[in-house]
This record gives sequence, structure tokens and C-alpha cells, in this order.
Amino acid sequence: MNQAMITRRSFLAKTSVATIATVSAATHAFAASGSELKLALIGCGGRGTGASNQNLNVSKGTKLVAMADISRDRMDKSLAILKKQHPEQVDVSLGNQFIGFDAYKEAIAQADLAIIATPQGFHPYHLREAVKQGKHVFVEKPLAVDAPGVRTVLAAAEEAKRKNLKVGVGLQRHHQVGYQEAVKRLHDGAVGDITSMTCYWLGNARGGLERLPGESELQYQLRNWYYFTWISGDFIVDQHIHNIDIINWIKKGHPVRAQGMGGRQVRNDKRLHGQIYDHFFVEYEYADGSKLSSQCRQGQAGTHTVVSEHVVGTKGKADLNVQNKIFRITGPNAWDLRLKTSEDGHQLEHFPLIEAIRNDKPYNELEQAAYSTMTAIMGRMAVYSGKQVEWDEAFNSKLQLMPENVTWDMEPPVKPDAEGNYPIAIPGKTVAF
Ligand SMILES: NC(=O)c1ccc[n+]([C@@H]2O[C@H](COP(=O)([O-])OP(=O)(O)OC[C@H]3O[C@@H](n4cnc5c(N)ncnc54)[C@H](O)[C@@H]3O)[C@@H](O)[C@H]2O)c1
Repeated sequence: MNQAMITRRSFLAKTSVATIATVSAATHAFAASGSELKLALIGCGGRGTGASNQNLNVSKGTKLVAMADISRDRMDKSLAILKKQHPEQVDVSLGNQFIGFDAYKEAIAQADLAIIATPQGFHPYHLREAVKQGKHVFVEKPLAVDAPGVRTVLAAAEEAKRKNLKVGVGLQRHHQVGYQEAVKRLHDGAVGDITSMTCYWLGNARGGLERLPGESELQYQLRNWYYFTWISGDFIVDQHIHNIDIINWIKKGHPVRAQGMGGRQVRNDKRLHGQIYDHFFVEYEYADGSKLSSQCRQGQAGTHTVVSEHVVGTKGKADLNVQNKIFRITGPNAWDLRLKTSEDGHQLEHFPLIEAIRNDKPYNELEQAAYSTMTAIMGRMAVYSGKQVEWDEAFNSKLQLMPENVTWDMEPPVKPDAEGNYPIAIPGKTVAF
């Protein structure tokens, strides 16, 4: 093993499961030896800056050498933060700071590993380019906003495997010990056959942004991207994917159909709230007939909050709650894990990726993440349309919300009406797949 790195296993070996603490850069970065790994950051916002910091924490042999964004301001802020965090590992010359919609291609060309943290509508096309150029990738979740995007990701996943590229995805729960231990036990039959599932993300929301003076419609929508379905996929796809993905992981597959309901009751300010919903309830059915009740809600102050996953089986049940740090199985195979402090999944997910790159081990998280992305998209399709949606029709849908090429002179796919209201999905009327 390359001694320049700390691995997740060696980190965990030194840390009792019950006392896992947030990984800190100071204690876990190792001195460099061996070849330098060049990193490019595509999308220099909050998560891109965070993921770059966490990636650079893993090995001093990694250097950030290129950045891409559509906003000079966002890039400058990100670069200043990263330089402060890693003065010796950040060297992005002015010539390697690329601005614009094609900037990702140029930044990727400078690197061995690309971190893709643009808004998710862009992920399939930025990922495809990185794989085409033969680069390793860390790409944030979700992987797409529509079915054509998911199919593009799956094609890139195959190409990445053929080219022996390593790809990590920002579904960090896969790297948190509570989930790993619980899912392993469930796969080993701890609760028998799983007959029903529930998952929740009821809680926090990203605030909407007002238009700035002189901003074009496209500039505004891209800055307030969370609130436009063609860029974010709506919040069931952006955020609730984390919980839906855990159920798919436990069930070792995706649902076969979905139906549900939702809408927006408090997201009704046309200056802030674009077109996304503020609540979804989706009933998913899996191939074995078991059903998942999935609930997500944002922005409704004064309502119940919870982020958790639960399954009931023929021999017991399991309750996984990352927020209160308790993972529990009840029944004949009772088990319980209480973490004293939260695990930093955003940090942990970079260990195995770097380890796989350095030691040339197979590593590709795209497939599971693509199916979980598609599951969340299918939920949105069912709720927006008000129809029952079969997996095959959802997966094969030709409805493409995100254009493959976005340019500053194009019209955005959605526009406000004369009163400034954006089109909102109406169940029973909206064609959503
Ligand atoms: N895994 C997690 O828990 C987690 C948490 C937060 C965000 N995310 C994901 O990370 C991604 C980014 O989210 P964020 O919170 O950093 O958003 P953000 O708005 O802070 O950053 C997005 C950045 O991308 C830039 N950008 C937009 N379009 C671009 C393009 N075509 N080319 C290059 N740059 C472009 C923006 O200017 C901005 O700097 C999203 O996919 C989000 O879902 C994941």
C-alpha cells in the first residue's frame, strides 16, 4: 500500500466504532510520497469546495491544479478557502481557472481526478466528458434530473469500468459505519424477509434567491438552481435520494412502480420559489411486492422533522437514524449501535476512492447511485403526473428536462408568465414522463 495515504480501514482500526469522531485534516493527512495526483474541481460552490478540502485531506500527494465554474466570483471564493486550508496542495494558475459552460472540458484535461459538484442537471454530461477523457471522478449526488440523464450516466459507468477508471459518488451514507453494519446484518437475514419499508426527510430547506438587478432569466435560474426542476430535479431528487438510496441498498434493487401525491403550500413566493414542490409522499412497490412509504417535506416551519429509514421483516425490524446516531435491530437478532458523535461521511467517502486510485483497485459507485437517482425521479414523475408509473416507462422516458448543451444566449427551458409565475406541475394534467 502506498504509505502516503491513510485508508478508511486504518482510520477505523484506530477508532472504536462507538467513538468515531469527525475526521480532521490535521490528524489524518499524511506526508506525500509517490506520484502526484492532479485534481480538478468542476463547480466551485459550497459542496465542491467542501469535497475538494476533504479529498485533499486524504493524501498530501494530491494537488488541486484546475478549476471550472460559470461564475468568477464563486471560483475566487472557493480558491481562497482551499488555499487557506491546503497552502501546499493548491496551485491553480490563472491559466488553469476556466470560466463558462465549456470550462469543465478544459479543467478536466489538466487533471487525473475530477470532482464534479455542479448542479445535478449537468452531472451526466460533465461525468461523460471526464470518462471520455480517461479521468477518475468523484461526482456529487444526484446523478441526473431526468431519465435520459440516468441512461447517459449508466453508459459512462460501463465506459469507466472498461477504462479501469475509479468513480466515487457523493452518497456518503455508504461510507458511514452505522449504515454499513446495519445493512450487512439485514443482508444476512437479521429481520428475515423484509416486507415493508419507510423513509423520511422532513426538515431543512435551502432558501430561495431573489433576482439581482440586470440578471438575465437564465442567469437567475442557474443561480437559484435548486428551485427549478430542469436543473435540480426537485428536492425529492436532490435531498430525499439519500433515504431512498438506503432502502434500495437494503433491498438490493429498485422498485418496479410508484404512485403518490404532493404539492407546494408554503413555497408560493414567485420572487423566490421557482417551480418546485414542498412536500411529496410516494408509495413505491418492489418486485417482491413489498412497499416503501417515502415522505419528504421542506420549508414548512412548525412541522414534525425527522430524517430516518425503517424496515419491517418477518423476524424483526430495523430503525436507522443518522440524526440521533442510533442504528437498531429488534427481534431475535437484536443489535444496536449508538454513535457518540456524528461520522463525517463527506470525509470518509474520499478514503476508498483515493485508495482505489493509488492501489489500482476496482472502484465504481455509479450504478447503485444511478438507480437510486432514477428511483427518486420516478417518484417525482408519479407525483407531478398523478399517475401510477411503471419502472420501465420511467426509465425509458424520453422526456429530457436538462439540455445537453447550455449557452448564455439560449432561452431557459421554463419561463415565467406575464405575472412572474413559473409553471408548476399539476397532477392529472402535467406530462411528467
Ligand atoms: N452529498 C451531499 O450531502 C450534498 C450536499 C450538498 C450538495 N450536494 C450536491 O452538490 C452539488 C452542488 O451543490 P452546492 O450546494 O455546492 O451548490 P452551489 O450553488 O453552492 O454550487 C454550485 C456551483 O456550480 C457552479 N455551476 C453551475 N453550473 C455550472 C456549469 N455548467 N459549469 C460549471 N460550474 C457551474 C455554480 O456557479 C456554483 O459555483 C449538487 O449536485 C448538490 O446536490 C450534495
